[in-house]
Amino acid sequence: MIFESHAHYDDKRFDIDRHELLKSLPSKGIEYLLNVGADVKSSYECVKLAKEYDYIYAAVGVHPHDVKDMKEKDLETLIGLASYKKVVAIGEIGLDYYYEISPKEVQKLWFREQIELAKELDMPIIVHSRDASKDCYDIIKETDAKEAGGVIHCYSGSVEMAREYTKMGFYIGVGGVVTFKNANKLKNVVKETPMNKILIETDCPYLAPVPNRGKRNDSTNLKYIAEEIGKIKNISLEDVIKYTNENAKRLFRVS
Ligand code: NI
Repeated sequence: MIFESHAHYDDKRFDIDRHELLKSLPSKGIEYLLNVGADVKSSYECVKLAKEYDYIYAAVGVHPHDVKDMKEKDLETLIGLASYKKVVAIGEIGLDYYYEISPKEVQKLWFREQIELAKELDMPIIVHSRDASKDCYDIIKETDAKEAGGVIHCYSGSVEMAREYTKMGFYIGVGGVVTFKNANKLKNVVKETPMNKILIETDCPYLAPVPNRGKRNDSTNLKYIAEEIGKIKNISLEDVIKYTNENAKRLFRVS
């Protein structure tokens, strides 16, 4: 049974069929699903979904795109939301210098603040890092984020950096990109990362894997991601599903 470690079913692209889809996922092999917050409003939605569906868990946090509007009181709101027992992580948080929708200094500030929050609450972090690998790594080091632990979601960095992260106890989140033809760098990361440090995720509705690239993504596509990892690691699809499920349960303390 699959553990979907990163999804955004609160996204408006699911408005037309959200509940139909979410009702159907357990019968399609999804055992657990972590729906991840992007701002305060969506963090509320994540908690709401976790209350409605037994198999859904939530992460609460503010994405680097949205920290430009973040206020001190939002941290209090996140603490309140995180007190619900099915909130198992702080995320997604991090740095995005590709779009740079929020100024870099503001991104760094709130990344640090939310790491401190996770440490205080004793919860793992879900890290978004795009075109910011060095700063992201430096902040994780400086803040001693390994105390909280977590996953570098939709990993896009180098093999060397992945090794540094796993040495600190972090997990590497692998999504649809691994199925793309030109994804040699990520395929190499998968090859070099121990199987007990890999999580699978869709990041849906974004980043659908081949053969559904370009379409709206959902958790039923995880099998293509697991299949590709199996090919790279030379192990069966069932083993990829089994290991990544155990890893996610261990990290998010879900059982
Ligand atoms: Ni995401």
